[in-house]
Amino acid sequence: RPGAEAWVPAAADLDALRSAAPGCRGCELYRDATQVVFSAGGAGARLMLVGEQPGDREDLEGEPFVGPAGRLLDRALDAAGIPRGDAYLTNAVKHFRFELRGKRRIHAKPAVGHVLACRPWLEAEFDVVRPRVVVCLGATAARAVVGSAVRIGEVRGRVLEEDRAGRPLPAPTVVTEHPSAVLRLRERPVREAAFARLVDDLAAAAEVAE
Ligand code: URA
Ligand code: SF4
Repeated sequence: RPGAEAWVPAAADLDALRSAAPGCRGCELYRDATQVVFSAGGAGARLMLVGEQPGDREDLEGEPFVGPAGRLLDRALDAAGIPRGDAYLTNAVKHFRFELRGKRRIHAKPAVGHVLACRPWLEAEFDVVRPRVVVCLGATAARAVVGSAVRIGEVRGRVLEEDRAGRPLPAPTVVTEHPSAVLRLRERPVREAAFARLVDDLAAAAEVAE
């Protein structure tokens, strides 16, 4: 199957990965996106946070988590007492997938094929960053890291050590809600409760990373 493999440099450091990523043609998503959005943070980070894919703002700016979901994530990291320098932020899929509605670009969930195609980048990031803990933000990230579909409600609050095939994960892994899912909640008390759970999950992950 096609995938990013051919574009991921071997034994690369983070700079080498970041310079190679714009050339990736591992799936068709590069064609309509503005640019690749690779990651933020340094190789010394203890926590690796994996999102779904860049959003509209991220696509335009070339940086992950700079839009509304990113602001909510920033607040949650802050509330969990996690300094930004301790967190490496990346996504399961590195190009923005969207549908055009008039002139508006509407987020489209990446397909499983996109997640699989983009996996070699994530694996290279695991090798370089060697985080002490991985946090999957939402189901797409969980699919990329843990493999196969997981229900967030079933795995949240647990520390996973193996993927769905029983192979050891690159680091102890926690699955939580995507910040966008929190943002979408309409009623304020419901949203605030979801935010508090996200903060709790991040704080629990940070404890694993101690
Ligand atoms: N949502 C994500 O999953 N990743 C981003 O970078 C921004 C929004
Ligand atoms: Fe490559 Fe991933 Fe972009 Fe597809 S989404 S072109 S696999 S970087």
